[in-house]
Amino acid sequence: MITIAVDGYSSCGKSTFAKAIAKRLNYIYIDSGAMYRAVTLASIREGIAASSGIDEVRLAELLKDIKVGFVKDVSGDGWLTTLNGEVIEREIRTLEVSGLVSPVSAIPMVRSKMTQQQQEMGEQKGIVMDGRDIGTVVFPKAELKIFMTADPIIRAQRRLKEMDGKGEKVTLKEVLMNIEERDRIDGSRDVAPLRQAVDAIVLDNSHLTVEEQMNWFDNIYKEVVSKLP
Ligand code: DC
Repeated sequence: MITIAVDGYSSCGKSTFAKAIAKRLNYIYIDSGAMYRAVTLASIREGIAASSGIDEVRLAELLKDIKVGFVKDVSGDGWLTTLNGEVIEREIRTLEVSGLVSPVSAIPMVRSKMTQQQQEMGEQKGIVMDGRDIGTVVFPKAELKIFMTADPIIRAQRRLKEMDGKGEKVTLKEVLMNIEERDRIDGSRDVAPLRQAVDAIVLDNSHLTVEEQMNWFDNIYKEVVSKLP
């Protein structure tokens, strides 16, 4: 069993891809972005994070009591994110959370707490984790690192469709602005910015179906495994 890191830009299908490969290999899948979203949701609920700013003193207190986890989705084959035991999968996908998650996740104490939890989850290997800094910071020794990218307009269209399906009323322009803003903040923050690891393999899925991405992955995986000692 190996460790697989999947990093890349917002809304370029990392979760769909990472979930599918985990299922194929019978590995654990962890959505690290959901963990940052959970912290953001808790901060919004407590009035600690808002568009006017983030109260870092109260955030430090809040972080002490936060436990983010995942439970099996009994109605599907995926996992649901939990915050101190409460299922919050739906609540963390709103545009309000998306609008504040990048500034919240740029705060060093938030990153160190989440990174520590993620590294504990990966101790056993046999894991696929997606995010922004998985191949660079969380699992720098991962045997396979994939860096995903796609055209911003295509990413916004995909995200809009997903949000429409969930009944969220947003425009393409709003979604595109959020994606571009998150790319900018995620890529320019001081701690663990979004970067392609030097040993990562790039997957641009702008014009690839999920099936085509799986074929691409099968070849890469075989090649990586064949070179392992
Ligand atoms: O993957 P996502 O869009 O759900 O992630 C939400 C935000 O969380 C993203 O804008 C940046 C942050 N994030 C991060 O800083 N590091 C990670 N490993 C994963 C996500």
